[in-house]
Amino acid sequence: MKFELNLQNSQIKEKEFSKKKYLERFETINNGLHSGAEEWTAWVDYPSKNIKVLGEVKAIASKIKQDGDVLIVLGIGGSYLGAYAALSAIKSKTKTEVVFAGINISNEELVETFDRYKDKNVYVNVISKSGTTTETMIAFDYAVSFLKSKYKAKYKDHLVITTDKVKGYLREYATNNGIASLEVPDNMGGRYSVLSAVGTLPLLCAGVDIDKMFKGAVKAEKDLQSCDEQNIAYRYALTRYLLNKKGKKVEILSTFYPRLSNIGAWWTQLFAESEGKDKKGLFVTNLNFSTDLHSVGQFIQQGTPMLFETFLSVENVKGDRKLSKIENGCPIKYLEGKTVEDVNLAAQKGTIEAHVSAKVPVIQISIEKVDEEHIGYLFYFFELACAISGRFLNVNPFDQPGVEDYKRNMKKYLSC
Ligand code: PA5
Repeated sequence: MKFELNLQNSQIKEKEFSKKKYLERFETINNGLHSGAEEWTAWVDYPSKNIKVLGEVKAIASKIKQDGDVLIVLGIGGSYLGAYAALSAIKSKTKTEVVFAGINISNEELVETFDRYKDKNVYVNVISKSGTTTETMIAFDYAVSFLKSKYKAKYKDHLVITTDKVKGYLREYATNNGIASLEVPDNMGGRYSVLSAVGTLPLLCAGVDIDKMFKGAVKAEKDLQSCDEQNIAYRYALTRYLLNKKGKKVEILSTFYPRLSNIGAWWTQLFAESEGKDKKGLFVTNLNFSTDLHSVGQFIQQGTPMLFETFLSVENVKGDRKLSKIENGCPIKYLEGKTVEDVNLAAQKGTIEAHVSAKVPVIQISIEKVDEEHIGYLFYFFELACAISGRFLNVNPFDQPGVEDYKRNMKKYLSC
């Protein structure tokens, strides 16, 4: 496997990474994250510690895969984005369709989703660590009615609850009604939980090879432990920190590979919710090229110089259909004999060159191919880099106090 970070066009000088003040800070952060004493850091050594404890999740998944036409996953934010991202990247390999619901407040969407599967054999996995999240609980309420009317007393066999080990309404519901349940591990927040049952049940149901994904994550855990300037999680985190200090307040994760677009969505949530607090943090967003070159591309090239870009690319993309026999006079005649992927690669190189020449700092992350191992590595790399980055800013990368404000206001309007 191959995972590379290239900072050549980042506008950050190599000598920054070996500065004593940054390395010492990194050492303190790294020791803290690995000490096991800090709250919300159970994800740090989760890949190596839990590689063999997926038995319970695998047993539930194998029943759903055998029997189910569809698994409807209910959850929002960190409770769905990891599985959603990995599934878009790797693609389903089973007959069981895995779909996501409860990711907004829309009766129409809920009804449409469940209606689509009314004649199919349906399983539902509700995922909420707190068991209080409005979107998830509205969807759960709907799902239970749907399952009860379809399966009567047997509805319980079609429901799996993933929630806190002891606390909350969903835990009580599972215990009181004898529903199959899985745990969101202690000290692990939603956006750092993709390798736990939160992500692994939906992914296993879709036939994703979780052992390989863990192999990639374990490799990342080992590779990224060292407290030196070669640690690429530190290099990425410090580059972001220094660019922020230089006035670049926006980071865009760009990719030319549609399969990675939801990795971008997961990444955006991870970094925005982890860093955006105490009036600090970068505004992060993800773009999908070439689509977004025809919208936001103009701004990146010539607009307010407030941003930098992180390109996520793939070395080996399959595709052997050549564009052949293009008619004379057709404006794409020059593409004759090329594959679509040749064109995509050229578009990527051309875009990076153009943005670099417009003085946009560019970070490049490339993986050899899109498979379980690389995605596992990628998840761990970004989680660790995000935690280091948050600590460099002196914010707590594991809470999200600001998200509570809109909920308080919403409840006021519902007079509860
Ligand atoms: O990353 C996080 O911690 C959040 O995005 C949560 O995952 C999200 O708010 C859903 O929370 P819960 O799992 O409690 O329903």
